[in-house]
Amino acid sequence: MPVISFAPDSGVWLLSTPRTSYALRIDETGAPCHLAWGPRLTLAEAEEFATPPVPADSSFEGRPPSGEELPVDGGTRYGPPSLQVRFADGTRAFEWETTGHRVLEPAPGESELVLEFRDRHYPLAVSLHYRVHDHCDVIERWTVLRNTGAETVVLQRADSAAWTLPPRDDYRLSHVTGQWAAESQLHRERLAFGETVLTSRRGVTSHHTNPWVMLDAGDATEDHGQVWSAALAWSGSWRVTVQRTPDGRAGLTGGAGHEGTALPLAPGEEFTAPRFAGLHTDGGFGAASRAWHAHVLAHVLPHPDELRPVLYNSWEATGFDVDEPGQRALAGRAAALGVELYVMDDGWFGARRSDRAGLGDWTPSPDRFPDGLTPLVREVHRLGMRFGLWVEPEMVNPDSDLYRLHPDWVLHFPHRARTELRHQLVLNFARREVADWAYDWLTALVADHGIDFLKWDMNRAFSEAGWPDRTDGSDRLWTEYTRNLYAVIDRLRADHPGLRIETCSGGGGRVDLGILSRTDQAWASDNTDAADRISIQHGYGQIYPARTMAAWVTDVPNQFTARSVPLRFRFHVAMAGVLGIGGDLGRWSDGELAEGAALVAEYKRVRHLVQHGVLHRPRGPVDDGPTAVQYTAPDRSEALLLVWRRAPHRGRPRLPVRLAGLDPAARYRDARTGKVHHAKVLTGYGLLPELPPGDWSSAAVHLVREPERRTAP
Ligand code: GLA
Repeated sequence: MPVISFAPDSGVWLLSTPRTSYALRIDETGAPCHLAWGPRLTLAEAEEFATPPVPADSSFEGRPPSGEELPVDGGTRYGPPSLQVRFADGTRAFEWETTGHRVLEPAPGESELVLEFRDRHYPLAVSLHYRVHDHCDVIERWTVLRNTGAETVVLQRADSAAWTLPPRDDYRLSHVTGQWAAESQLHRERLAFGETVLTSRRGVTSHHTNPWVMLDAGDATEDHGQVWSAALAWSGSWRVTVQRTPDGRAGLTGGAGHEGTALPLAPGEEFTAPRFAGLHTDGGFGAASRAWHAHVLAHVLPHPDELRPVLYNSWEATGFDVDEPGQRALAGRAAALGVELYVMDDGWFGARRSDRAGLGDWTPSPDRFPDGLTPLVREVHRLGMRFGLWVEPEMVNPDSDLYRLHPDWVLHFPHRARTELRHQLVLNFARREVADWAYDWLTALVADHGIDFLKWDMNRAFSEAGWPDRTDGSDRLWTEYTRNLYAVIDRLRADHPGLRIETCSGGGGRVDLGILSRTDQAWASDNTDAADRISIQHGYGQIYPARTMAAWVTDVPNQFTARSVPLRFRFHVAMAGVLGIGGDLGRWSDGELAEGAALVAEYKRVRHLVQHGVLHRPRGPVDDGPTAVQYTAPDRSEALLLVWRRAPHRGRPRLPVRLAGLDPAARYRDARTGKVHHAKVLTGYGLLPELPPGDWSSAAVHLVREPERRTAP
């Protein structure tokens, strides 16, 4: 059955993914209307939804408040508009007129429907894009707007897409909230009537919420039920408005920019909104997460097939106090542990001795690196590791040569304060010369030193976001900043195909599908406390796969919580993502170094499962534990179960952990104990993991399918 089909009599378009369908139609007024999104349908079945609109039964109702593909501001629509435009004569409404459609095959296994429209009178062309993939249920949508006239058109809202759910008795919203060092806290709560707005006004994705939502009828569990979800691929300010109406409907609209920002479109100018991907799954929140992970691996990440190396990062060990002898000593110890990528963090450049000075002056400090960085990079390479470096290209300390030279390069308004956060200001990446300056020094730095990896940081939110040199600058910069940031990263990657990049914004402040399409991993949080990390990682993993989630083992007492948990527990938590080490190895005892080396070796044996496997969450982080996550090889030949228990309680039964996704006919051998288990016992009855007694107890159980003695399914 074709992936995109059309029924000329009813005007129904049907997009099909392996398990879902999405149907729409252009109605009698020319507006693109939503028909259905859920389990897979044939075209004939989808046509059942193409019924004539029910006339409003009072003069206070307008068009149905939900159900358009891109609700515009205009006519009798009273919901949150996805498209809100102001034409040169002050007219605000948009009236649809269809101008055609295209069905494209942008790449093998991908199909795209483009529906084209224009305003009936004013010079604005709108095209709605829908992209589907052969092996994935995620539908990517975005909108392209083009000014076809001779005067500027102002887009007050230009969302990527609106998603509509079928009518249900009740709706529930899942999303994350957080703050610095406490990102990705998962919330699952009844959807309020009216509008629920999730947004970042910070110019960056933000720690405080993340641009994705999941909606269900209030009845989905980890393993059962229908879930509709959507995630926006954008790393600047954004807004997602979820709406629930009294007529029993729910839907959402989302895109770049927060309320109050507007985008001027000059004559001939085009704006392509970021992708807003949607997904329907039937199989609970677990199935939704697995489908998102598969999508990120198949269609988002630039190098999904790679195994990410075990890294060491110097930040928690040294703070700003980095120099060549100290870094050489740490690198030697890291290599002995089995580390594969050594990353020198903040403090290596200019006058950077604290967070008060030096940002912007990206040359190695001569007192700390008298011969530049090359001797250290050579030493790290000699030790068999790749070399990574921390950079924060979008920022400047006022106490820096760069700021003294270019005080006008920062976001600012005339006659207004330049508010510092962490003693730094934001460079206006929307300005071409700023983006070019960053690209120039970055590409030279990487080329001159043979740098393999950049940790690209962004350590403050915008304020006084003005661009006085351009009249419309303070409107344009919200999108052009992010576009130029993307362009600098894209150019760097093109120049240096071997370069890998970690996205970081004071931890997890810039994690989204947009930045992940041009980076290799993300620093999920500055908080490295293993106990706190369990819930941070749980929230992170709702959408983003473990393959992208950098996680370090650091020293205790933890610098955020003053909590001390065993090294093994810290390792087992960090092993749920891309393992890294961030402790002060000079202070690790011989015993700790030996235990650490053994755990690094253990991670290397199972990381293909973590990074490329399929995630199940047998038990979430609800109480003192145990919490359990399982990663299974796509061919079900192996699985890894990680179990973390904060505290045992007398009288609380020890419950077996039921595994999932195993080959039912097979038996699996525990690689450590040699014990063999039948898959049906593991999935139907469960495994009682051997947890050492006491608090902060953990286990990593690696199960390998036995080739012989298959039992009947
Ligand atoms: C941010 C990062 C940290 C570290 C510091 C350095 O906070 O998230 O990991 O790199 O900056 O200043």
